[in-house]
Amino acid sequence: MIIQSEQISLKHLLTVEALSDREVMGLIRRGQAFKKGAKWTPQKSQYFATNLFFENSTRTHKSFDVAEKKMGIEVIEFDDSTSSVQKGETLYDTVLTMSAIGVDVAVIRHGAEHFYDELIQSKTIQCSIINGGDGSGQHPSQCLLDLMTIYEEFGQFTDLKVAIVGDITHSRVAKSNMQLLNRLGAQVYFSGPKEWYDEEFEVYGHWLPLDDLISTVDVMMMLRVQHERHDGKESFSQEAYLQQHGLTVERAAKMKEGAIIMHPAPVNRDVELADALVESLRSRIVTQMANGVYMRMAILEAVLNGKA
Ligand code: CP
Repeated sequence: MIIQSEQISLKHLLTVEALSDREVMGLIRRGQAFKKGAKWTPQKSQYFATNLFFENSTRTHKSFDVAEKKMGIEVIEFDDSTSSVQKGETLYDTVLTMSAIGVDVAVIRHGAEHFYDELIQSKTIQCSIINGGDGSGQHPSQCLLDLMTIYEEFGQFTDLKVAIVGDITHSRVAKSNMQLLNRLGAQVYFSGPKEWYDEEFEVYGHWLPLDDLISTVDVMMMLRVQHERHDGKESFSQEAYLQQHGLTVERAAKMKEGAIIMHPAPVNRDVELADALVESLRSRIVTQMANGVYMRMAILEAVLNGKA
């Protein structure tokens, strides 16, 4: 069955705040429609996309690649280690060049929060920008594929209890997800080490000990410990972290019927999540990866609609 879905039109995709509820639900339904076999109708004969990843990625980078290829969009390969970035070219000049040679959309992951501000203010850069992750800022395409996965499972967000657990301060996925889940009516809870939690998250939900949450939530969203964003001074024991803050097999056994485990991945197995749970019946981690392709098709379609 092909899901009937309204096409969405966006100039860029930079943050989740910039999306209306109608746009979020439209993108989710369009992602579902692509999953069921809907086709994109291009408005011109050739489109070019480039995926500019200045931070490491497997899922986001490669699922944008697959989404673009499924849609018949030509992908202009880019590797910062062999590009003129090595000669001092700035991000602005890389994107300016891509725009000048005819690239329609640039997916960008960069370590600087708000890297996109100067790009969208440019009067010369014409290509649409999709934020593939900006430092510890936001990760809107991951958030949308997470929401698609939750909606597929439960058919709604209202009153769903979602726990976001772990290294929240450094997680751009958590920051995007807490905002949209709260806005769409879910009850958001937080857990994990207090040093990786910030009072500013209180507007979206409350922090509780993990063992107080485990049997009540519909979604346990575990987060990777992001050592690369820490100062390297703290001592860290994987075993102690798993026992205190992680989802162990014993804790997972207390989850309520129908509750699911999510993680944006990559997973540190046996750190935030027991190895045995990663591909368990409750886990939707592989579904999240698969849905990433369909949601990214919906996002690419929306920004190319926006250009038309
Ligand atoms: N979830 C996610 O962003 O994974 P990658 O870093 O592999 O893209």
